This record gives sequence, C-alpha cells and structure tokens, in this order.
Amino acid sequence: TTRAIVAGLGTYVPEKILTNQDLEQMVDTSDEWIVTRTGIKERHIAAPDETTSVMATRASIRALADAGITADDLDFIVCATNTPDTIFPSTAARVQHQLTTKPIPGVDIQAGCTGLIYGMEMASALIQSGAYHNILVIGADKLTSITDYEDRTTAVLFGDAAGAFVLQGKEGTQRGLLASYLQADGRGGDLLIEPAGGSMLPASEETVAARQHYLKMNGNETFRFAVKAMPEAVEEGLKKAGLAVSEMDLLVPHQANLRIIDAAVRRFELDPSRVVVNIDRYGNTSVATIPLALQEAREQGRVHDDDVVVLCAFGAGLTWGSNVIRW
Ligand code: ACO
Repeated sequence: TTRAIVAGLGTYVPEKILTNQDLEQMVDTSDEWIVTRTGIKERHIAAPDETTSVMATRASIRALADAGITADDLDFIVCATNTPDTIFPSTAARVQHQLTTKPIPGVDIQAGCTGLIYGMEMASALIQSGAYHNILVIGADKLTSITDYEDRTTAVLFGDAAGAFVLQGKEGTQRGLLASYLQADGRGGDLLIEPAGGSMLPASEETVAARQHYLKMNGNETFRFAVKAMPEAVEEGLKKAGLAVSEMDLLVPHQANLRIIDAAVRRFELDPSRVVVNIDRYGNTSVATIPLALQEAREQGRVHDDDVVVLCAFGAGLTWGSNVIRW
C-alpha cells in the first residue's frame, strides 16, 4: 500500500515583533496578565504587503527545498487558511502563481485552526488513491488582518505566520501519516466567528461601524471546549492508528493558550520533553502554529526517524482533530 510521508517542511515568520509591552500602549492590559493567562510574550506581525499568500509562498519554497523537489514536481496544492488574500480567487491559486508558471490544481480549506489537520488527511487520501504523488499542504494565516486592536480580550492573542508540508507517496513503508481524527460541530459556531463579509452579513457601513469584520470570540467557552477537544483528538487519533498514548514520542499541539496545552499534558501525564511549546514567541498563528512548533522541535533534534508524532488542533467551526505520523 501507498502512504503519505512527510518529505519536506518549511515555515515563514514575518520579521516585525509585537511585544506585550507594545500592547500595553495599545489596550488596557499588562504583560503580567497576558503571560499568566496565555503564556504569550510576543508575536510576529506581517507587513501590509505580506499577505497570507506571500507568507505561504515563502514557507512553501523552504518546504520544497527541504524535500529536494521543485514546484513543477507538485501535482496538488492544499492551502488551509481562515484569512485568504481574497475570499476568491483562492490562496492556493495565488501560491501556484507565485511558485511557478506551470498550472497545478489547488484548493483552499477553511476549518478554523484545525484546517492544517484537515489538509493533511485530505492530501494523504488523495495520495493513497494513487492519483497524486507530491502534494503541498500549507497552513497560512494573517490573523492580525482581522484582529480588533480595540478589543483587549482578543488583541493580545494572535500573530502571523505560515508553514508548509510536502507530502509524498511511498510504497511499502511503515512511515508516514498513519491515521487522522477529524471533527466539526456547528453548534458552537458563534463562539469563534468573523460575523460579516459573507453572504449572511455582506459588508456595509453598518457592519464596518459595528466592527463585525473582526474576529469575535467567547474566550471562556472556547477554552472549556478546547480542554476537552484536544485530549479527545489525541486519544482517538492514536486509537485509529492502533497505538497507545504511551507510544506517542512527540505531541505537537495547536498553540492557542499555554493553559490548554498544560491541561492536556497533565491529563496524559506527559514528560514536558515530549510536548512542543513555542507560544511564548509567536502567539496563536492559527493553522501555522503546528508547522512552526514542529520545525522548531526538528531544529532542536527532538524529532527522530520512526518517532510517533501527533499533531492536534481545535478551532472555529467548532472543529478539532489530529494526525498521527510515523516520522
Ligand atoms: N488584559 C487584561 N485583562 C483582560 C484582558 C487583557 N488582555 N482580556 C480580558 N481581560 C479581563 C476580562 O475583562 C476579565 O475581567 P473581569 O473579571 O473584570 O470581567 C478578566 O480579565 C478575566 O477574563 P476571562 O475571559 O475570564 O479570562 P480567561 O482566564 O478566560 O482568559 C482567554 C481569556 C485567554 C481568552 C482564554 O479564555 C482563552 O485562551 N480561551 C481560549 C481561546 C482560544 O484558544 N482561542 C483560539 C481558538 S482557535 C483560533 O486560533 C482562532
């Protein structure tokens, strides 16, 4: 049988840093509040011309180099994002255009911060079908473009970044994506929402005045959902792969709040060396947090051949899920 292996990984983070001290000048908050409630110390902010597709392309170029292939070797692009350059055309098509003159099929996926997990599973299924061989799976978001810097409850949380995986079909291997667990439950849709700009509430003077083009979040309820969803995603993903939690070598959780990660660590009694955390320096970059954290773990020599690596996330939808990978 064919499996999708991770042939390459690349990330891109904008240069400009917004610290908690900077935010203290912008909204009624404090470094102490932000650090104790979220674990975030600073985040990177994209420049006006660094759109989601620009960051996605930069991460993709690095992922292609890591895989030792060129864009012309790709036969599909899956781009997970919640902040596309435009609602249409897709960010995937923009990335194709920035990477090469050769047409490549591509599509955006929108599944909140779980979009990357969805993208990995969908790309893996396309590869296993035999129809596609090299697929670029991107997670890119410019959340600062929809962050309300007059709302202290969300302004402190988000940053910008992009990550990209090259998934490649390989015959007769024990490595690669072993299983995924995906969920969506629209009952919690209002907890995390960009209310206006879609067909329900098209842009108007009223929507702009009411600040409805910004991300709105019920933080408490989202938190309560997340502390249940993350462990469920890890357990169910491993179960589908036929593995026990004790067989997981590395957990790469979505970086939304350090307290949510800590709750999962305590629940599974994990040694901190088996969990990747870098939220302190990037904040919540949505679909980019997992590639960013995984890349950092790789650079620290924490990812070894044949390790069982679990990626897990939750987000708007509500959605949640995991990918179980034998590295
Ligand atoms: N600075 C200072 N005080 C603040 C700030 C701030 N930035 N934000 C809120 N407060 C105040 C509140 O007004 C409240 O004051 P009050 O008690 O006088 O009313 C107090 O701090 C406590 O607020 P809570 O909302 O109860 O704080 P909580 O401990 O729940 O932390 C937080 C808030 C960090 C948002 C938390 O709920 C959380 O992380 N939720 C999950 C969010 C999440 O993961 N979102 C990502 C989902 S997917 C995606 O990535 C898009």
